[in-house]
Amino acid sequence: AEIPVRKICCIGAGYVGGPTCSVLALNCPDIQVTVVDRNELRINQWNSEKLPIYEPGLEEIVKQCRGKNLFFSTDMAPALKEADLIFISVNTPTKTFGLGKGRAADLKFVESCARLIAEVCDRSKIVVEKSTVPVRSAASIINVLKANTKPGVSYQVLSNPEFLAEGTAVNDLTNPDRVLIGGEESEEGKKAISALSWVYRHWILADKIIEMNTWSSELSKLAANAFLAQRISSINAISAVCEATGADVSEVAKAIGLDSRLGPKFLQASVGWGGSCFQKDILNLVYISESLNLTSVAAYWQQVIDMNEYQKSRFGERIVQSMFNTITDKHIAILGFAFKKNTGDTRESPAIHVAKHLLEEGASLHIFDPKVEKAQILLDLDQSDEESNISIHTDPYEAAKGTHALVVCTEWDQFIVNTYDYQRMYNSMLKPAFVFDGRKILDHSALAKIGFHVETIGKRH
Ligand code: NAD
Ligand code: UGA
Repeated sequence: AEIPVRKICCIGAGYVGGPTCSVLALNCPDIQVTVVDRNELRINQWNSEKLPIYEPGLEEIVKQCRGKNLFFSTDMAPALKEADLIFISVNTPTKTFGLGKGRAADLKFVESCARLIAEVCDRSKIVVEKSTVPVRSAASIINVLKANTKPGVSYQVLSNPEFLAEGTAVNDLTNPDRVLIGGEESEEGKKAISALSWVYRHWILADKIIEMNTWSSELSKLAANAFLAQRISSINAISAVCEATGADVSEVAKAIGLDSRLGPKFLQASVGWGGSCFQKDILNLVYISESLNLTSVAAYWQQVIDMNEYQKSRFGERIVQSMFNTITDKHIAILGFAFKKNTGDTRESPAIHVAKHLLEEGASLHIFDPKVEKAQILLDLDQSDEESNISIHTDPYEAAKGTHALVVCTEWDQFIVNTYDYQRMYNSMLKPAFVFDGRKILDHSALAKIGFHVETIGKRH
């Protein structure tokens, strides 16, 4: 039988391109996968012992496939020329200038991929939009490709959004809830869809692979992220009511989640949600809605972001209030800087917001995260070097020593009471010693027994 896809090229060796292609290569030994990126440092890291991103289980897969059917390269043209199918997995950040500044998605990287593909390819290809993009972006990609296509070459553009979450990427890619493939209704469109579907069927059951029209597929990705973030903003809104009334948000979340129509997942109240995508994608949805004159729709989704800003600020204010309304010259340990556990990623991390709030109030910070690099933390706090008011630690006990308070910003498993010796931390701290649990992961009664004053999200002290 005809093998529809022998070689795949993926543009963008980031959090999506790297893990996606690694899992693909592992499950498709008959396909050669080349991940290209113009960032030489990143490609060198993918080819080294220390990968550019931390994801549980990823290193093993890369080591197993690299050099066999998985390659990382900066040499884009030959990889594109050879490929039967091309993934575009480049970043689509929020625009920081011009029309739609602060809200619209910037498609300049996606467009430059389309231009490069048209320029170098001399035979027909399937181009797969994997980056998260505004609805109808595939139309722009087709336009750019068509206007620059070489004679005798044709393109099919598919939408195939990615739903992996950081920290669980390998598992999400191996056992996805669903795979969306959006494409054209035409014969050629159907052929392209079935080729990509054939690739996924190497390891994913056919009934999890959903075919649909391109615009539904593009919009489904934005809608899914908007719904997920909305759930957290909703439980966080309830957490404020809990703090004011004496209800406990964990009990409320449990009660809500037992309703089978709602389900128990994604109801963990927190210091706020972060990550590179939720905010960017909701802003994108808000901008699209406004552009379509759907002002009520835009205002509705904007509230999900506004509630998150409120939650992050509220947590910072609560720390100051609890510590007798002043933290000037006080020392505070921040435990966790990544936007969630099991990743070294700090993009839009709520820890950044909290840290800046505390610095503005005059506190000195002692920051510890098991996976985030020191240089990254300093960059996120707009510092070029360690200052007198910011020190970065590689040991949690060193971070806690001599401080007035511990502030948990990330839900790392190792922070839970049985793993860390909180008595030891308490002994080395100034009194009264405070704990602010922004993730509701610690054993608060055990901490109170040690002598800590404990404050947490969604519960009155
Ligand atoms: P990233 O910034 O980690 O990686 C993108 C890579 O693309 C970078 O290494 C960059 O150098 C490269 N790149 C950009 N333009 C290029 C060009 N013209 N030629 C070659 N390389 C180029 O981004 P990411 O987190 O992997 O996200 C990529 C896309 O996937 C975004 O649209 C994002 O919304 C979406 N997404 C991300 C996640 C996630 O968990 N991070 C999950 C689902 C979807
Ligand atoms: C999210 C989605 O879960 C993925 O499906 C999607 O592919 C991805 O965005 C994307 O498009 O980039 P991610 O941001 O990696 O994935 O991580 P999540 O697990 O969704 O967590 C996002 C934030 O919400 C984190 O800060 C997390 O701590 C917070 N969160 C999550 C809560 O505060 N409470 C919860 O109950 C769940």
